[in-house]
Amino acid sequence: MDRLANKRILLGITGSIAAYKAGEVVRRLRDAGAEVRVVMTRGGTEFVTPMTFQALSGQPVHLHLLDADAEAGMGHIELAHWADAILVAPASADFIARLVLGRADDLLSAVCLASRVPLVLAPAMNSGMWHNPATQANIRTLQSRGVLILGPDEGKQACGEVGAGRLLATEPLLAGLSEVFGRGLLTGKTVLVTAGPTREAIDPVRYLSNHSSGKMGFSIAEAAVEAGARVILVAGPVTLPTPDHLQRLDVVSAGEMFDTVMAHIQGVDIFIATAAVADYRPLRVTENKIKKKAERMVIELEPTPDILSEIKARYPGLFCVGFAAETSDLETYARDKLQRKGIDMIAANWVGPAAIETEGAFGSDTNALRLFWPDGEAELTVAAKPKLARQLIGHIVQCYQNRPPRSKHTDTKVVSLPDVKRTPGS
Ligand code: C5P
Repeated sequence: MDRLANKRILLGITGSIAAYKAGEVVRRLRDAGAEVRVVMTRGGTEFVTPMTFQALSGQPVHLHLLDADAEAGMGHIELAHWADAILVAPASADFIARLVLGRADDLLSAVCLASRVPLVLAPAMNSGMWHNPATQANIRTLQSRGVLILGPDEGKQACGEVGAGRLLATEPLLAGLSEVFGRGLLTGKTVLVTAGPTREAIDPVRYLSNHSSGKMGFSIAEAAVEAGARVILVAGPVTLPTPDHLQRLDVVSAGEMFDTVMAHIQGVDIFIATAAVADYRPLRVTENKIKKKAERMVIELEPTPDILSEIKARYPGLFCVGFAAETSDLETYARDKLQRKGIDMIAANWVGPAAIETEGAFGSDTNALRLFWPDGEAELTVAAKPKLARQLIGHIVQCYQNRPPRSKHTDTKVVSLPDVKRTPGS
C-alpha cells in the first residue's frame, strides 16, 4: 500500500447503497498517506451526506458542475488535473453507462472525461443489474479503453438477493488501486514505436518528406509507458520533447529507421508503426547542391524498405500494429493493408482535406481512428491525441491478450529472409 503515499486520489461516490462504505475507503486512503478529494453525484448524496466525507477527507466535497465558486477555485478541469488517479467507489450501473457514452452532464462524469490519469471503478449494484448484458457490454467497453474494474464481490446484497454486485472490500480495493501506480496492463512487456516523418535526401540541402508531426506516435509511446511497458521510441525528425521513462532513438531517413528498428526488435512484444515513412527516396543523392536550370528536371525514385512488412515477415509471432493515413476509401485501403502486410491490427485515420474534424490530422492536436483487426473493428471518435492513444493501447492490449496461442509461442522468433536492398547511407 506504500504506493498510495503522497498520491492525490479523487474519490467519486455515486448513487448506490454501498456509498456508506466509501467513508471507510476515505479513512484507509488517508491512513495510507494519500490526499483525498471527494466528488459526489446527486445520487450519491441521496445515500450519505457530503458532510460525512468533508469530515473524513478534511476537504470540501465537490458536488456541482456549474458552481461559480468552485470553478474559480477548483472546478472540473482543475480537479481532473489535480488527481493522480480517480477511484469511483461505488460506481453505479447508471454512472458506468454514462461513462461509456462520454457524458459530461454532472461534475464527476465531466472530471472523468477531462482527466488523463488512471480511472478505477468499483461497481456496486443489484446482481441482476450487474449481470445484465448492457452492463457487461459497458464494462468490456471501459476495459478496452484502459479503465480498471475492481470487483464486484459476491454475497448477500442490501436488497436481500444473493449474488455478484457488492462493493469490493476496502482492503482489496486499495490494493487494486495501488497497482495503477506500479503495474499496468503492459507491465513486463516491451513496446517499440516508430513516429514522425522520414526525410529522404535529394542533395546535401534538399529532401522529400511529409507533414507528419509525430504527435500521435509520441502520445502512443507515452500511453504505453503509462501502461507499464518498457518503451523504445524510434523517432523521425520532429520538434517534440522526449517523454519521460522511455528510450528515444532519433533517425532521419527510412533506411536509418529500418536499421534502428532491426537493431532493437529482439525481445520486443508489440511493434506499433506510427511513423509516416516515405515510400520512395531518390535513387541517387548528389554530392553537391543541384543547380537551378531553365528546363524541367526529373528525380528518379526507388521504394524504401517497408519496415512494418519486413518486421512482420521476419518475426511472425510479434504483435504488429500499423497505421493507414488515407484521403479516400479509408476502410478498403485499411483492410487491404491489414491483409497485405499480414499484421495484427491497423489504425486508420483521414488526412488532408477529408479530415475536416481533425484539421487534416497531421500536426493537429486531435485525431479520430478506425481500428481493424482480423476478426473485429472499433471506432475511436475525435479526441485529444493522448486520450486517443490510451484508448488505442487498451484495444491493442485486448487483442494482444486474445491472440491465437500459436503466436504466443513464436514471439520474436526470427524467420530468415533475404536482406532487403539498402542504399549507401541508409
Ligand atoms: O503501405 P503504407 O505506407 O500505406 O503503410 C503504412 C504503414 O506501414 C504505417 O504503419 C507505416 O508506419 C508503415 N510503413 C513502414 N515502412 C514503410 C512504409 C510504411 O513501416 N516504408
